[in-house]
Amino acid sequence: MSTASGNGFARDFVWGAATASYQIEGAVHEDGRGESVWDRFCAIPGNVRNGDSGENACDFYHRYREDIGLMRELGLDAFRFSIAWPRVLPDGRGAVNEAGLDFYDRLVDELLAHDIEPFPTLFHWDTPQPLEDAGGWPERPTAEAFVAYVEAVVARLGDRIRYWTTHNEPAVVAGNGYGNGDHAPGRRNERDAIAASHHLLLSHGWAAEAIRRAAPDAQVGITLNLFHVYPASGSPEDEAAAWQVDGEANRWFLDPLFSGSYPADLLERNAIVAPLVQDGDLDAIATPLDFLGINNYHRAVVSAAPDGPRGIHDPDAQYTEMGWEVYPDGLYRLLVRVAAEYAPPAIYVMENGAAFPDVRVHDGRVRDPERTAYIASYLESVARAIADGAPVKGYFVWSLLDNFEWAHGYSKRFGIVYVDYPTLERVPKDSFYWYRDFIASRRDLPRLSPIATG
Ligand code: FCB
Repeated sequence: MSTASGNGFARDFVWGAATASYQIEGAVHEDGRGESVWDRFCAIPGNVRNGDSGENACDFYHRYREDIGLMRELGLDAFRFSIAWPRVLPDGRGAVNEAGLDFYDRLVDELLAHDIEPFPTLFHWDTPQPLEDAGGWPERPTAEAFVAYVEAVVARLGDRIRYWTTHNEPAVVAGNGYGNGDHAPGRRNERDAIAASHHLLLSHGWAAEAIRRAAPDAQVGITLNLFHVYPASGSPEDEAAAWQVDGEANRWFLDPLFSGSYPADLLERNAIVAPLVQDGDLDAIATPLDFLGINNYHRAVVSAAPDGPRGIHDPDAQYTEMGWEVYPDGLYRLLVRVAAEYAPPAIYVMENGAAFPDVRVHDGRVRDPERTAYIASYLESVARAIADGAPVKGYFVWSLLDNFEWAHGYSKRFGIVYVDYPTLERVPKDSFYWYRDFIASRRDLPRLSPIATG
């Protein structure tokens, strides 16, 4: 049994770091990997800053042993990574590429050999291009293909994985991939975005059932990007605008997962979803979760405007390189609200962190006090949320390494380890050492209620 410690974190609280396949692996042509929508998207000039791509990224594919050494130095309990669907099924469906699975087999064994719990995500955005060519996530067969992919992965790794996450941030795949086109595959159609969101959720439910059939003891969850929405004022108009943004960003995903229905206030606006929902879909989506993964970086402040809700920029607030406001209380409010309204059995903060303009100074160090302050303040919010009843079981900093930040290319550095891209050298930043010491200090705390022996 865990013993609550004075700092708000149970002794079995999971301390981790997070990454994703396309952002770190590189080796896009190796061992039979197929093309993903991100390879295709990056090849089109203008899509990604500086023409960057994940072709080499951090070369984690070859350097994972060295990086696991860094995880050991940090004292991590767990490592969150994702599995690249195009490595496992180069055509998206059909023949399994065993050589692609071999990589994850080696990675998982190496993590376990170092007492680090693997927390794989099955889909962190790298859809196989052949599935996109056939219509992608707006089409139901992509959801069916996802289940066959998940079955292949679980057949190989299911004997060693205890925590499976199906999807990472379906809202971003739908909204940025198919709605505004900022992400791969770069489509811009509101209808497609809504259809994609339904099929992502549906494939989650089906995959969760498939994982449980193959690995009945596994814990299964999904990871959503959520943020607390504050109205800019107490006026009814601003309150309504905030409720609308909360609906589109948060409730559109939380409600079907936990209650088996889409939010009524959005159904008229998103009327396109109704004809896509077949008998049994909502029951599948609402299959009980063992945990909810939450990614959170910032809050939103919203006011009403004639053309719809408008986000407010506060000139006195601190913003990161992404233009995201540093507002730790937003994470506290979010966790407490999700716990109260949706009652997930467990929550993991699967991503939290910050991009700042890091430089390596003459003595070779990377001093990043803003990142350390950011992480420390958000962790303080997590501890407060736990004290107020939110069942948060773990925290994963985004990210272990600087990496390919999607449409921003390599221009945004989120790592607690600096990556010198020309040489791929890893340089732990000051925040790395802070996180290491913080984790160690949690372990050294005295037990509050000593267990009587004899
Ligand atoms: C999240 C993504 C992750 C990373 C961070 C900064 O939306 O899941 O891959 O890009 O943002």
